[in-house]
Amino acid sequence: MLRTHAAGTLRIEHAGEAVTLAGWVHRRRDHGGLIFVDLRDASGLVQVVFHPEDAPEAFEAASEVRSEYVLQVDGDVVARQPGTENPDLDTGAVEVAVRSAAILNAARTPPFPINQETNVDEATRLRYRYLDLRRERMARNLVLRHRVIAYMRRFLNDRGFLEVETPVLGLATPEGARDYLVPSRVHPGDFYALPQSPQQWKQLLMVAGVERYFQIARCYRDEDLRADRQPEFTQLDLEMSFVHEDDILALMEDLYAGLAAEVAPDLDTPSPFVRMTYAESMERYGSDKPDLRFGIEISDLTDIVRDSEFMVFRRAIEAGGRVRGFAVPGGADTPRRGADALEALAKESGAGGLVWIVYEEDGSVRSPVARFFEEETLAALAEACGASNGDMLLIVADQDAVSSRVLDVLMRRVAEDRDLADPNVLAFAFITEFPMFEWDAQGQRWSAMHHLFTAPFEEDVERMEEDPAAARSRAYDLVCNGQEIGSGSIRIHRRELLSRVLRLLDLDESEAEERFGHMLEAFTFGAPPHGGIAPGLDRTVALFAGERDIREVIAFPKTKSATDPLTGAPASVHGEQLAEVHIALTPEAEAAQSQRDEGAREEVTNDV
Ligand code: AMO
Ligand code: AMP
Repeated sequence: MLRTHAAGTLRIEHAGEAVTLAGWVHRRRDHGGLIFVDLRDASGLVQVVFHPEDAPEAFEAASEVRSEYVLQVDGDVVARQPGTENPDLDTGAVEVAVRSAAILNAARTPPFPINQETNVDEATRLRYRYLDLRRERMARNLVLRHRVIAYMRRFLNDRGFLEVETPVLGLATPEGARDYLVPSRVHPGDFYALPQSPQQWKQLLMVAGVERYFQIARCYRDEDLRADRQPEFTQLDLEMSFVHEDDILALMEDLYAGLAAEVAPDLDTPSPFVRMTYAESMERYGSDKPDLRFGIEISDLTDIVRDSEFMVFRRAIEAGGRVRGFAVPGGADTPRRGADALEALAKESGAGGLVWIVYEEDGSVRSPVARFFEEETLAALAEACGASNGDMLLIVADQDAVSSRVLDVLMRRVAEDRDLADPNVLAFAFITEFPMFEWDAQGQRWSAMHHLFTAPFEEDVERMEEDPAAARSRAYDLVCNGQEIGSGSIRIHRRELLSRVLRLLDLDESEAEERFGHMLEAFTFGAPPHGGIAPGLDRTVALFAGERDIREVIAFPKTKSATDPLTGAPASVHGEQLAEVHIALTPEAEAAQSQRDEGAREEVTNDV
C-alpha cells in the first residue's frame, strides 16, 4: 500500500506513531511560514503540517501543491496544541507533522470547488461527475446506497431468498411505458427490448419452483423524466410463492423498519406502518400516496351545503359531484394574494374554481362567498374540517376524480409553503385494494392499473367484464412521505383468468398469443399462487439520505433529457455499425443529426 493509515481514522491514540498517508489536497493554508494541508481520502481528512526548517524538501513540495493534487506524506501523528483542536472533525484532536512528501499527481483547477457545498449547475456536475462524487455529500450518499443494498441482501438471505439474475435482452411488451429497443444483428429486423422490470421472469421463476426470489434489478423505461424518475433505475425486485398480501406487507415492514433503524437511526419511523385501502386514501387525502406528516385530511361537506344559496355548489351536487375540502392550520394569515394564487393553482389542476374561507382569530369570517352562507353553515363547515379560529378552509365542488386531484395538489402546496412536513419523520403506509382497471381515454380502452398479471379479488372476478371500473385488484403500494416507494401485487396464476384479463384489455387472441403466449403456456404447467413487490432502490436511498432528487443517490445518472454529459451518450454511430444491425435512418433523423453535429462543432469553436 502507498499508505499505512487512512487519513480519516487518525485519533489521539495514534499520537507518537509514524504514519504514511496518501490522498487529495482538500484545502491548503499558508500560515506565516507554516503550510497546513487538509489531506482527504475516502475515509475522511486530517490536517498535515509542513515546517520549513524541520522538512525543507517537503515544505518545498507543499508550496507547489494546489487543490486536488494527489499527495503522499510521511510524518508523525502529534496531539494538537491545546486550544487548536477542531471539534468538527473526527481527526480534530491530532495533526501529522510531515517529514517527507511526494506529489503523486498534479490536478487542474476543478470546474467547481470540491471542498464546499456550493450550488453548481446540473450539466457541469454531470459532465465532471467523478469530481462531483468527490464532494462530501455525494460520497456520503454513495456509501449510504451501498449500506442499503448490503442490508437488503443480508435481510433477504437470512429469510431464505435466492438472488437470481434475469436477462436484460428481452421481448418488447405493448403494456406499460415505452421500451428501449436493441436491434438484433443476426435476426434482421428483429429487436430485443430492455426490461422495464423483471416482472415476467420472476413469475416464471415461481413456476420454476424457486418460491423466494430477489434481485437488485436494473430497469429501463423510456418515459418523461422527473425528480423521482430516471430512464434506467434500480429496483429491489422480489417474489414469493404460496403467500397472501399480508405476508408480503409484513416482510416489507420488517425490511423498511430495519433499514431505517440501521441507516437513519435519527429519523422517527412510526410503526406499525399505516394501512388503508385505495378508496380510503383517495377519500381522506385525494391521493394514493398521501403524506401523513401534514396532519391534514379532506372532509365531505356535501350535506352541509346541499341546500345553500351558493349555486356553484348546488350545481356540482346536482351533477353527481360532491363538495370536499380541508383546513389549513394557521391559514388565516393568508393574504388575498395568497388565496388568489391557490385559486389559480386549483384551476390549473382542473377545478372550476376554489372556495376559501378564513376564520379570523377574533371569530369573524373572511371569504368571497361568505354572504351565501348562514352563520351556522359556516360554523358547521369549520367543525367538519376540524378548523378553529386562525385557520382557513379550501373547498372544491366537483366529481371525485377532479376534487381529489385538486385537493391533493393544494394540500402539497400549502404544506410546502408552511413547512408542515417534519423532515425528521418517515411516515410509511401501505395502500391496498387498488382498482383493477383504469379507463384510457386516449386509447379508448381499459388498461391495467398496476399490470396485467395482477389478480382481482375473488369476489370481483364475476363482475369484472360488466363493470371493469368497480373491480378491485390485489395490488398494494408502499408509500412514504407523499411518495410511492414500491408497488406489487398478488398475481394471476391461472391461464383462464389471464386470458380473460387480456381480452378485457382489448388484446386480440393473436396479439395476446404473440406477446404473452409464453406466460399463458407456463401457467398450464402447475404455476403456484404467488405475489411480490418491487421497491425502487433509488427512491429508497433518496428517502434515507433526505434527498429530493434520485440523481443525488445515483453514481452516474442521466439529465432530464436522458443524456449523459460525461460520455456524450446517446450519440450517432458509424454507418457500418448501423448497417450491421440493419438500421437505416429516416431523413428526419439524419437532418436532426447533422444539425446536432453542427451545433457541437460551433460549441467547440466557441470554447477555443
Ligand atoms: P412499478 O412499475 O410500480 O412496478 O415500479 C416499482 C417501483 O419502481 C420505482 N420506479 C422508478 N424509479 C426511478 N425511476 C423510474 N423511472 C421508476 N419507475 C418505477 C418506483 C416504483 O414504486 N414489476 C412491478 C412490481 C411488481 O408488481 O412486483 C413494477 O415494476 O419506486
Ligand atoms: P363563479 O361563479 O365562477 O364566479 O365562482 C364563484 C366562486 O366560486 C369563485 O370564488 C370560484 O373560484 C368558486 N368556484 C367556482 N367553481 C368552483 C368549484 N367547482 N369548486 C369550488 N369553488 C368554485
